[in-house]
Amino acid sequence: MSAPLVRILVAEDDRAVRSALHVNLEKAGYETTLVVSAEEALDRLQGRSYDVLLTDVRMPGMDGLALLQEVRRRWPHTVVLVMTGYGNVEDAVAAMKSGAEDYLIKPVTKAELLMVLERALESRALRDEVSSLRREMETRFGFAHIVGTTEPMQRVYSLIHAVASTHALVLLQGETGTGKELVARAIHQASARRDAPFVRVNCAALPDTLLESELFGHEKGAFTGAIRNQPGRFDQAQGGTLLLDEIGDLSPAVQVKLLHVLENGEYQRLGGRETLRADVRVIAATNKDLRQEVHGGRFRKDLFYRLDVFTIRIPPLRERRDDIPALVEHFLARFSARDERPPPRIAPRAMQRLMAHPWPGNVRELEHVLERAVILAASGEIVDVDLQEAPGGAPSIGPATEGLSLPDHLRAVEHRLVLEALVQAGGVQARAARRLGISRSNLSYRLKKLGIAGSPEGGLDAEGESRD
Ligand SMILES: Nc1ncnc2c1ncn2[C@@H]1O[C@H](COP(=O)(O)OP(=O)(O)OP(=O)(O)O)[C@@H](O)[C@H]1O
Ligand SMILES: [Mg+2]
Repeated sequence: MSAPLVRILVAEDDRAVRSALHVNLEKAGYETTLVVSAEEALDRLQGRSYDVLLTDVRMPGMDGLALLQEVRRRWPHTVVLVMTGYGNVEDAVAAMKSGAEDYLIKPVTKAELLMVLERALESRALRDEVSSLRREMETRFGFAHIVGTTEPMQRVYSLIHAVASTHALVLLQGETGTGKELVARAIHQASARRDAPFVRVNCAALPDTLLESELFGHEKGAFTGAIRNQPGRFDQAQGGTLLLDEIGDLSPAVQVKLLHVLENGEYQRLGGRETLRADVRVIAATNKDLRQEVHGGRFRKDLFYRLDVFTIRIPPLRERRDDIPALVEHFLARFSARDERPPPRIAPRAMQRLMAHPWPGNVRELEHVLERAVILAASGEIVDVDLQEAPGGAPSIGPATEGLSLPDHLRAVEHRLVLEALVQAGGVQARAARRLGISRSNLSYRLKKLGIAGSPEGGLDAEGESRD
């Protein structure tokens, strides 16, 4: 079962324990190196890499916990397992908090030893797989910061890839916090314009005249306060990319001017006579449904058609829940690196809650929840997370979220209630169904519909019918 190339470093001061471990590990096919102290272990680790460090906690000189912390810091790829005496279980707790993968209580039986080792190696392999998948994404597309491998995100990547090499205008449509700006930057980075400026303008932030001046610049005397010639964002973005953010909030007057630039590639500064040429790739972003804005008479139809040539819809987080673990890992790594701590572990319950949350604020909301959790997880483990609940702890049916259609919202609420019931029922579906007040076959139908995997021991019915 065990791979012959796995290298294990054992630090143990007790000779009898050491040789017992040696025999068992070698018999199981692991390549084993034995040392008698933490100091010696560090020496060895400097010389070559080990897959696993198996260390005693109480040793003369530097103890196993200090060794663990040092190894986590300097060789994060090495899995650390600690051994403690039966009377010192608190050492095991401390070790887990400092990032040990697992612990063994002495006397260590052969079966336990091998089981814990295999489990640790498996979870490391899984982590490696996730990060290599991410690296592949990065090198293939150069999207250094976009995390997510689910199908809806892969579709986004291939659209970015397809459009980046062209000069086409791009419209990014997505709810707040889905990563529109990130995608805009990725398009710029993947394009031939990458060495020229990327400029962003928030169209919602300024009143009319100022926005016009911001975009196109002005000449001295164009309006009160225009005391000198001032270039605009189109000028600044020459040769590069201009992100017009929140384009759905553009006033009718500026819409006309923008349409003109987009159609003719020409513009004039406010109060200016000269006609300037814009060599700028424009990317527009909005969290509004522009079609609906056109319907409501708030957005010009002709501008909409001009913008809607190559639209990339960025899916809300609740439509790609399988990306949540990778995003969690990404943000935990980022925030803990910022504070120079090892990334905290995340308890299963906290993870379950993150998976079940509807995320109306999408990735940005997740990012903030985790930033807070990292700060609070001084112990090295995130036991729970702070999620915005509707008042009274009722399921979040509450404030209608912008950009969330009723069916989407209902689905998100349903997803969360079903998951919560399952978690509370310890995974037993019959019990979860009772909590929800529905039949088991109805639950099984909903699990299928929501894409939640049912566990066989929970007694998932073969086929589920909806019988509301
Ligand atoms: N797929 C992703 N991988 C990693 N980080 C992400 C991802 N999507 C979004 N983020 C992060 O979430 C935050 C919000 O992203 P961004 O500002 O691009 O969203 P947005 O769609 O422009 O939101 P808004 O409409 O509110 O302006 C940023 O910090 C961004 O880095
Ligand atoms: Mg944005």
